[in-house]
Amino acid sequence: MDALKRLTEAIAADVKRHGDPSGIARAVAGTLQRSLGEPDLLSTTQRRSAADGYQQHVLHVAEDGSFSIASLVWRPGQSTPIHDHVAWCVVGVYEGTEFETRYRLHDLDGALYLEEVGVVEHHSRAATWVVPPDDIHRVENRTGQTVVSIHIYGADLTRTQSSISRRFALGDEVPAGEGSLAEDSEAIGSGSRQGRRMRVQVRMD
Ligand SMILES: [Fe+2]
Repeated sequence: MDALKRLTEAIAADVKRHGDPSGIARAVAGTLQRSLGEPDLLSTTQRRSAADGYQQHVLHVAEDGSFSIASLVWRPGQSTPIHDHVAWCVVGVYEGTEFETRYRLHDLDGALYLEEVGVVEHHSRAATWVVPPDDIHRVENRTGQTVVSIHIYGADLTRTQSSISRRFALGDEVPAGEGSLAEDSEAIGSGSRQGRRMRVQVRMD
């Protein structure tokens, strides 16, 4: 049995064993993490990049539509939009280093604000996950090398095309201390780029 088939069967078992999205995502992340060192997990085609943006290659869609596996390939400087997801999402880095910026959405009297809550560096063989509704992020390649990662979604990619639900377009930055976000900011870690508040438009695709 090849490495991708073994991974697929192990994920199917995780999905069956756990009923809730958080439990599934945590189990699938562990399963994926154990597969990331397999040298033959991805073919050359499944690692192919493109000059006009990051590429998604669908590797497998479960017959019952309960999950999908894709490889995503970023050249230096390429990134996703800021987005949330249609379902739970597990990400494992196969090659290179991926940067993930996480955001929190605030609705203040009908005006939407995005707050940057941190940037996480994911190195080769690391796996992480997000579960809606706390799942707004941007993934990018800030390095000089191509990045290859494997994404597993709790959705049928033949129907949704991608795991992205909404895309967020940034508006004007709100100066620190302005508005009524102060009480929320206590939960935000330290760091020069963290805690920025930006007006944001939400686009539904
Ligand atoms: Fe995502």
